[in-house]
Amino acid sequence: MSHGQNVIVIDHPVVQTKLTELRDKTTDHREFRALLDEIASLMVYEVTRDWPTKPQPVQTPLEQTTGRVLARKVTLVPILRAGLGMADGVLKLIPEARIGHLGVYRNEKTLEPVSYYQKLPPDIAQSEVLLIDPMLATGGSGAAAISVLKKAGVVGMKFVCLVASPEGIAAVHKIHPEVPIYCASIDRGLNEKGYILPGLGDAGDRIFGT
Ligand code: PRP
Ligand code: URA
Repeated sequence: MSHGQNVIVIDHPVVQTKLTELRDKTTDHREFRALLDEIASLMVYEVTRDWPTKPQPVQTPLEQTTGRVLARKVTLVPILRAGLGMADGVLKLIPEARIGHLGVYRNEKTLEPVSYYQKLPPDIAQSEVLLIDPMLATGGSGAAAISVLKKAGVVGMKFVCLVASPEGIAAVHKIHPEVPIYCASIDRGLNEKGYILPGLGDAGDRIFGT
């Protein structure tokens, strides 16, 4: 499952089956949204595996005992727009999570990230943070988003994507080597327009039908 330093590929057979369906160009936006939602739930189960827990007393119908619960609050930060496509799937497993939003789009000519919106919970620094975006292509958007989160004081964050390129992983880790990257696939590379190959096309357009 692990792939080099601080990159974890979730190669679970059920995740891979759904990813293959997502890649299929004949999958329409309704089906695409449903699959992405399901994959996000499956991935977050693995991503959260090493989070600390704390003891919590609980009264069962029979007796008093001590259970365990997540030690820290959780904040999801989808990168708009496409990250929104994974948020509901994550929330199914962690419904108490707060949600921050980061608007970043790629300038289609320069491929440089343009940050246009930020709204984060005030106590985000004290929480576990999952930054989510299905595509890690050149890495510009992800690296910029991580910088924003660091400025907000976040220390414990993980970057959850679906499909990553080797170039994107290298670019993010050049600036933020300590942030673990989780994905379901590391694809071959990028084309001249910065699209991941073989990839799945433009994730935002496929989710929202634009
Ligand atoms: C896509 C994707 C990532 C970014 C990845 O968003 O969702 O945010 O591109 O590319 P990068 O690694 O080269 O920065 P896009 O810019 O298409 O915006 P959208 O989600 O609003 O469609
Ligand atoms: N953004 C996408 O949505 N898809 C890519 O392949 C690259 C960037």
